[in-house]
Amino acid sequence: MDQHLEQEFEKHFGKSSGPFIHSQAPGRVNLIGEHTDYNDGFVFPIAIDRFTSIIGKARTDAKIRLFSTTQNQMAEFSVAGPVAKDAPKWSLYAKGVAEALRQRGLVKTGMDALVTTTVPIGGGLSSSASFEVATGMAILAANGKTLDKVELALAAQWAEHNYAGMPCGIMDQFISAMGEKDHAMLLDCRDLSRRQVPMKDADMRIFIADTNVKHELVQGEYQARRNQCERAVATLKKKFPTVKALRDADLSMLENCRLEMDPTVFRRGRHVISENARTLQFADAMAAGDWSTCGKLMYASHTSLRDDYGVSCPELDVLVEIAATVKGVYGARMTGGGFGGSIVAMVQRQAIEALTAAIDSQYPKRCGKQASMFATTAGDGAKLL
Ligand code: GLA
Repeated sequence: MDQHLEQEFEKHFGKSSGPFIHSQAPGRVNLIGEHTDYNDGFVFPIAIDRFTSIIGKARTDAKIRLFSTTQNQMAEFSVAGPVAKDAPKWSLYAKGVAEALRQRGLVKTGMDALVTTTVPIGGGLSSSASFEVATGMAILAANGKTLDKVELALAAQWAEHNYAGMPCGIMDQFISAMGEKDHAMLLDCRDLSRRQVPMKDADMRIFIADTNVKHELVQGEYQARRNQCERAVATLKKKFPTVKALRDADLSMLENCRLEMDPTVFRRGRHVISENARTLQFADAMAAGDWSTCGKLMYASHTSLRDDYGVSCPELDVLVEIAATVKGVYGARMTGGGFGGSIVAMVQRQAIEALTAAIDSQYPKRCGKQASMFATTAGDGAKLL
């Protein structure tokens, strides 16, 4: 293991015997399939080559102490105890995962651990899911236990719901746990079946640009979208009893119910239904190396998220607009929950420089701030090192 990290660990926790535990879990970028996971639909993310790492040592008691290098802060809690009133917010993700695993009978003893990350925090690249999954793996290792990756992802999602108050779908935790190098994962969020689709072309890159804005209200707006989707389903069900989720409807069924639906609810439904179809087409286009079709689907996804789903923001729109003017960019769209965060683009390798330059010169003028950018390849999911 990186000696520097061992030293950093010892700086905060002192020297002790016993082996180091080192787990790592990646952030993710979703290529397409946005706001579909909690509608039993399809998503198509990759794990990126940015990680949260946990360097820890098992303890003999039930205490968990974490030092976060990004927050420059120590947090401490007991495996079974209640959440302390003054617990730092970031530590609740870890507390939640520990609790989810404890309830499965897998955690008795605690650990001391250093938390470091290269996933930009709040950039819409699932820094929290990577933290949850990496923490879960480390706690399991400290207790000499293993757990199926699907169960680990579900435990992490449970933590997010119950300890971070974010009613997320399953995409982020799932890809962080189970990504595969050089593949994107087509995940059916209803039955969790998945197909790993190779990303073949050595000349194609996934490019990420972070708006560096995070608007408030994200959680409230997210919950509101979920409610609107449920209202769409309730109306559809009256005419089409087999519809259990928006996944089960097509556009003609939705059209058939238009008059009985609030216009906003109708548009929300139209986004989810059309996005599911785009996601399946995209996976097939990617398998065939048809980047131009992939690109068109990305732009269509962005438009639908902006106009029908109402989760984009001016900064995301500007980044997509800039990307669309650069030769060698196949397509671009907002990625993740929205209201800030990042865009994802599919780009010819040779066009990365031009795209970076275009964003560097135009984005600050139009939005009054810099964007952060990097290219990534699809990496592996969580592991113990
Ligand atoms: C957030 C959630 C995911 C998913 C996306 C939107 O990232 O955590 O579950 O719903 O938003 O696609």
